Parts: sequence; C-alpha cells; structure tokens
Amino acid sequence: MLYHQHIPVLTAEIIDLFRPTPADSLLDATIGTGGHALAYLAASKPGGTVVGLDTDAKAITAAQHYLAAYQDRVTLLTANFAFLKDSLMGGGILVSVASNPSAARSVEPEDQSAPRSKVNRSTSDCLFTHILFDLGIGSHQLDDPTAGFSFQSDGPLNMKFSTGERLPASSFQCVNYVTQRLGHLPTAYELIARLSVPELTLIIRTLGEEKYAGRIAQAIKRHLPATTQGLSAIIAQTVPVHYEHGRINPATRTFQALRLAVNRELESLAVALPQAADLLTGNGTLAVISFHSLEDRIVKQYFHQSALSLVTKKPITATPDEIKSNPRSRTAKLRAARKKPPS
Ligand SMILES: C[S@@+](CC[C@H](N)C(=O)[O-])C[C@H]1O[C@@H](n2cnc3c(N)ncnc32)[C@H](O)[C@@H]1O
Repeated sequence: MLYHQHIPVLTAEIIDLFRPTPADSLLDATIGTGGHALAYLAASKPGGTVVGLDTDAKAITAAQHYLAAYQDRVTLLTANFAFLKDSLMGGGILVSVASNPSAARSVEPEDQSAPRSKVNRSTSDCLFTHILFDLGIGSHQLDDPTAGFSFQSDGPLNMKFSTGERLPASSFQCVNYVTQRLGHLPTAYELIARLSVPELTLIIRTLGEEKYAGRIAQAIKRHLPATTQGLSAIIAQTVPVHYEHGRINPATRTFQALRLAVNRELESLAVALPQAADLLTGNGTLAVISFHSLEDRIVKQYFHQSALSLVTKKPITATPDEIKSNPRSRTAKLRAARKKPPS
C-alpha cells in the first residue's frame, strides 16, 4: 500500500528561509512523502537538487512516487539520519550529487551497485547548501495500522519506523539490556513485556512527560496489551476522567514515550546534528522542525554550543491559518542556523 501524502508544516517558512536557487542542493534528512522536497524542487527550478533520506523504506517508495515529476533532480536513500555520513558515503550519494547531479535513483545503504571506487571519498566532496530535519512521525505512518503508532486505529504494538537493525545506543540502560537479551531491536510490545514497572515508569515519565507514569506503567504491566487500542483502553481506565481537561487523548504521552524509546529518536537526533553541520557548505543553512520540548531542547542546545550562527533567535511557529487547516502544525517549532563561510 502506497502511503498517502503527508501535509508538511511550515513549508512557506522553509522556502522563505532557504530561498533556493537553481545552483542549490537540499539534504532532506526526513523526506517522508516528499512534501517539503517538492516545494524546494519547484522553487529551485531548473537545477536545484534534493538528496532525501528516510529510515522508513515505505516512505522512500512514496517519495519516489510523489516526486516523479522531478526524478532527474532527486536521489533517495533508505537510511537513519543517526548514521548520516556513513549512509551518504555507503549509498554512493557522493557520486550522484558531486559528480553526476542528473542521476536520479533510489538506493539502499548496502546497495552493491553503488560504485565502490568512490565510496571512500571525503565527505567534503558532498556538501549541501541546505539541510532539513522535519522530526518525528508523519501522518502517512500514523494512518498505517500495521505500524502500530496510533491509538485511533487498531494494530500490533510495534512502533518501529524501520525494519533495520541498527540504531545508536539508548540513553536508557534498561533498553540496551533488553536489546542485548533479545538479540534484536525491541518493539513497543517487547519493551512493555521485558521492562520492570520502575523502568517503564521512568521511560513514560521522561519521554512522555506524563505525570501519571507510575499508575500507567503498573496497569500496562498487569494487562500486557498486545494492540494499540488495548493499550489506549488501559491508559484511559487508569488516568483521571478529566485528564488534562480533555485537551489531549490520555494515551498521547505514553504512545510518544514508547515511540521515542523504540526508535531512539532523541539519541539519533543528538548524533545527527553535528554530522549535518559538517555536511553544509559555507553559508549553508541547517533547519530543524521539532514537535515537542524534548526534541526542541536538543536542537536549541546544539545550536548554542556549535560553531553555527543562529538565524532564528526565537523559533518560527505556524500561523493561525495553518494551524486551522493543519492542526498538526500547532506544536511545530522551526529553528535554523547558518555555517560561517571559510575565512
Ligand atoms: C514528519 S515526517 C516528514 C515529512 C516530510 N517533511 C514531508 O514533507 O513529507 C518525519 C519522517 O522522518 C522519518 N524519520 C524519523 N526518524 C528518522 C531517522 N532517525 N532517520 C531518518 N528518518 C527518520 C520518519 O520515518 C518520517 O517519515
């Protein structure tokens, strides 16, 4: 099943920030179904190029479909941005971007057809004028019940973005132990089944910022739900009736915590940002759209400690009109920083 097209957030603001020309190149580290990339390709006609990464192979298939009109200016790669530099080099991207901009294709990082002779070239051969991270999950994935991300539809408690077996170490030692014992990256169900109540409480409190984490962890361990709706029903029965004054579904924070833990999203972001900065040209711009305070904190801290110059003193947020037409944009924060030109 082809993913439906995700509606990207802050697209006009991204294009206004980048102001791409036909000589520019975008590394879209979270291409999803290609909405931001599409706007970039249109704005940088006739020559601007896009290299798009996504850890979800189904997103890459969808991006390939939705960006077909621009196929000779696009290269797609199934890869986790935690391994940005390795993936770009191993996927042979250095070749298609640096030496042959018109070679459009989709490649796996392990793709044996990638020209091996070029793989060891320095990353300095592969610089981008613009790099974008649009973090988290897309509506294309939430609407896929088989992935188990959503409490709106029923599915197995999976929550993995990718079927791949490589992620950075978790900042929760208990998650690393579970991974070791299983011999593979755990699904949300496997985390629930293997972690103790205190371990699960810590994860739900830290990654979900959920004040009822303790009660929820106890209830989940007692019932061991195997499906998204099973989990969401247990949470609803466990928290007070007027949970957060009805503003959000009671399952929202716990689902976020499990998804972040399963995919090591914060750990991946923390190691990806310095790699991205290295892949920028002088004067190149790195932009990150985050959707919750945990992600935003990592971006803010990185921008402050890095050698990049801040472009956005305060984050750019969605206009009331955008929030009305795309409620997902309500929590979006766009921060950007620019690389200093070589002196
Ligand atoms: C909000 S969507 C991006 C939507 C995209 N900007 C568009 O216009 O369609 C986030 C995407 O990032 C991907 N993603 C999340 N974590 C990732 C990671 N560590 N590496 C690569 N892709 C990741 C997800 O699979 C998802 O498709």
